[in-house]
Amino acid sequence: MALFGKDLGVDLGTVNTLISDGGEIVLHEPTVVAIDVEELKIVEVGQAARAMDGRVPETIEVMRPLREGVIADFEVTHRMLGHFIEKISGPARLFKPRIMITVPYGVTSVESRAVHEAALQAGSRDVYLIQEPLAAAIGVGLPVATPSGNMTVVLGGGTSQAAVISTGGIVSAHSVRVGGIRLDEAIISYTRKKYGLIIGSRTAEEAKIRIGAAVPQAEEREMEIQGQDQVTGLPRTIILTTGEVVEALQETLQLQIAAVRNVLESTPPELASDIIDRGMVICGGGSLLRGIDKWLTQETGVAAYLAENPVECIAIGAERGLSILERIRRSLPAV
Ligand SMILES: Nc1ncnc2c1ncn2[C@@H]1O[C@H](COP(=O)(O)OP(=O)(O)OP(=O)(O)O)[C@@H](O)[C@H]1O
Ligand SMILES: [Mg+2]
Repeated sequence: MALFGKDLGVDLGTVNTLISDGGEIVLHEPTVVAIDVEELKIVEVGQAARAMDGRVPETIEVMRPLREGVIADFEVTHRMLGHFIEKISGPARLFKPRIMITVPYGVTSVESRAVHEAALQAGSRDVYLIQEPLAAAIGVGLPVATPSGNMTVVLGGGTSQAAVISTGGIVSAHSVRVGGIRLDEAIISYTRKKYGLIIGSRTAEEAKIRIGAAVPQAEEREMEIQGQDQVTGLPRTIILTTGEVVEALQETLQLQIAAVRNVLESTPPELASDIIDRGMVICGGGSLLRGIDKWLTQETGVAAYLAENPVECIAIGAERGLSILERIRRSLPAV
């Protein structure tokens, strides 16, 4: 392989972008870009751009080029990807890499063509697309090529997806454009309604990660939350508890789980029995929410397990997909 350049797996997400090379994650950065709006130039990408958020003059805009799993700003996305690829392979690339890059299940052909084109323009030789739940299944090491039912659930920042995979392809799948970002928004609206306090999205995400859970926990945590009083506009602090975050998240979790329910309902009976025996594997950043496995098991009646490598398995699976291309090819999105 080395002679002809390398293979890369890219998990292009609404919140994070990961790149796998040789089965290792070589890049894990926020999908964030800082742009000089006067000169229309990229100032920073990834972690460095995110760190600038809220601390820059008006001439610099810190933005996310993807929304709900799909490219919202094409120009910025392909340039960001170019920066990322250059970062891991150096500016003097002799051979362009072959790339397998993720798209959410169920995107339109226009949306997937944009991802294909962005990866090509970012400097790759051949670009293949793969649906996230399939990449996840390969990355987790499920026997995707065999005629048995394997189910994955991917809980991302902008999407939630579920799929049943058998014989190298997706048998049934469903995706909703609701993810972790919407959970943060649910916390924002909860504290506004209950305490009259306006909080920022970073604070809400921190509360979700530090004290949040999908089901009530034996260990109740607390966190001081700073925000702005809705009436006076003055800064104020409240204490938020695990129980309150659990309550705040329920409605949005129900929207996310629609993807899982839909797949379970549309899986052919022969495969459904495999799924009941083996359960479903959950991955993506949203799978790190405490108790989500228990919650999914309770809500669906099918056992849900957290993947061993829940955040990295998607990029790793995308890269590995290139080595079993012939077995999965007919299931990949056409461009
Ligand atoms: N410990 C945690 N508990 C709950 N949520 C978490 C935790 N860690 C990360 N997250 C959430 O995971 C989400 C990001 O997940 P991920 O990186 O898989 O998304 P993405 O791939 O960028 O998005 P998508 O696939 O939907 O386009 C964010 O909303 C983040 O808040
Ligand atoms: Mg993702």
